Amino acid sequence: MFSFENKIAELAEQTGHWTKAEALLLISIPPDASCGDWCLPCFMLAKKLRKAPKAIAEELAAQFPAPQGFAKTEALNGYWNFYADKVAFVKNILNEIKEKGLEFGFAKQKNKTVAIDYSSPNIGKELAFHHLRSTMIGNSLARIFKANGYKVERINHLGDWGTQFGKLIVMYLRENLPTDEQTLCNLTVKELNKLYSSFSKISKEEPELESEARDAFAKLEKGDEFYRKLWSTFKEATLKELMRIYKIMGVDFDHYTGESFFEDKIPAVVEELEKKNLLVNSQERDVVLLEELDLPPCLIKKSDGSTLYATRDLAAALYRKEQFNFEKCLYVVDNGQALHFKQVFAVLNKMGYEWSKDCEHIPFGLILHKNEEGKWEKGKTRTGTASLLRDVIEAASAKILTLINEKNPELANKEDVATKIGIAAIAFNDLKNRRLMDVKFDWDAALSFDGATGPYIQNAHVRLCSILRKSGKSALELTFKSEELLDPSSYDLVKMLSRKEEKINAACENREPYMLAQYSLELAESAHKFIHNNRVLGSAEEGSRLFLVYCTQQILESVLDLLGLAPVREM
Ligand code: ARG
Repeated sequence: MFSFENKIAELAEQTGHWTKAEALLLISIPPDASCGDWCLPCFMLAKKLRKAPKAIAEELAAQFPAPQGFAKTEALNGYWNFYADKVAFVKNILNEIKEKGLEFGFAKQKNKTVAIDYSSPNIGKELAFHHLRSTMIGNSLARIFKANGYKVERINHLGDWGTQFGKLIVMYLRENLPTDEQTLCNLTVKELNKLYSSFSKISKEEPELESEARDAFAKLEKGDEFYRKLWSTFKEATLKELMRIYKIMGVDFDHYTGESFFEDKIPAVVEELEKKNLLVNSQERDVVLLEELDLPPCLIKKSDGSTLYATRDLAAALYRKEQFNFEKCLYVVDNGQALHFKQVFAVLNKMGYEWSKDCEHIPFGLILHKNEEGKWEKGKTRTGTASLLRDVIEAASAKILTLINEKNPELANKEDVATKIGIAAIAFNDLKNRRLMDVKFDWDAALSFDGATGPYIQNAHVRLCSILRKSGKSALELTFKSEELLDPSSYDLVKMLSRKEEKINAACENREPYMLAQYSLELAESAHKFIHNNRVLGSAEEGSRLFLVYCTQQILESVLDLLGLAPVREM
């Protein structure tokens, strides 16, 4: 791609003061367009060169001529400013968008694989609202990495093994006869959720229930046939509902390799740990000590022989490396599990796998709800009081449908559009923040069509689509004259479009979809401004302006898609 930032960064490297990568981080767009299209601040060089930034910028501007495609460069108050040759700039960018379409700004294939573990809910429960975060952040990261040229393996590491199944089995058999095939066949995840809540309640009064559950899980692990049957029925009932929700959310995976998948791969891991002299028996458990890293021991095996979450993650990491030979393996999991991942990666390192450094925990904060006293707090799923994701999606869609019924009752596929907007609203409320920030969920703010919301961006896309539709022209017949797109709101919009590649890169490097979410807001704002200031249909510049509308629509559609939000065309 013809990137002006790239050209400037290359020039910066020629000066000997920056590397290209350093320069790319520093280059920005001055808020006041009269100071140039891009600027490179020279303040950080002052110490090294023992000179005032102002003098440094002046020397650079005098010494290095403007690269091709630029009208001039100039020094101003310690900044080295770059002015594009506007006509050439508009022509280059718009022609490239026409040629590449939705893939404008995408990188070339890198021949490198990134494995991304996301969503990965525990089986036997319904998706809680907080599962939205891993699901949407992971889904967006997978799309962003793909756009940046990586092969992506999307993994759902379902929590389908572990003591919780002991709990479900114990509770199920308390309430049902083992011979009651009919009940088992018709079991739904709703009922499983209830079994969980009953277990938590009853075990408070009957603590021995906990050990019954552990025994039940041990029996399941040893292969008891009936328990296996119960387990696989529980799993199927959950998966059915899970798939339904993923489908309406537009979320996909390449692999559903849950924890149970690693069951038969665990003995080899334990053996390897033993061989490498890493396993120590402590308090009746086999552990790997990590004292030298100031970490608590990593639990590998319990006294009754059952294995643990960490053991299954070790087996999974080894399997992924072998299967995918990943460049990076990302785990999009809440920040509460930071210690767990530190331990797992440290054990891999102790086992001698230098690629353990390529495993990265991608943590994120909580979703907070307002309680009755108006204070923000974390929802509690264990006791079943937190809202379920499906309830939130349904409620959001219903609210949007009411709006559509008021404003555009004739719209085709109203329900479908309402669901897409509802999901975009709740997902964007999440994606617009840095991952590690806690997200405050406020219905009215998230569902609004104004402000930093999903519907606001979708609405910008709808407006662009509607202009194109009304023009009655197809993209292929459109042509433009750069000279007609030099007014400030057209030119600013072109500049905004040109930044897509850089934004994809930054979101990828930082594993931060919010960077792209912020870009989508800026894009939507520029697009609204352009439409407000320039009449498109029926104007003397109709052809050029339509062309710009088309290019903007392509970029916005692609960015919405990279965020995992549906680019609806009518609302
Ligand atoms: N099932 C876990 C949970 O719900 C998350 C799993 C994340 N992935 C992993 N490889 N440990 O807390």
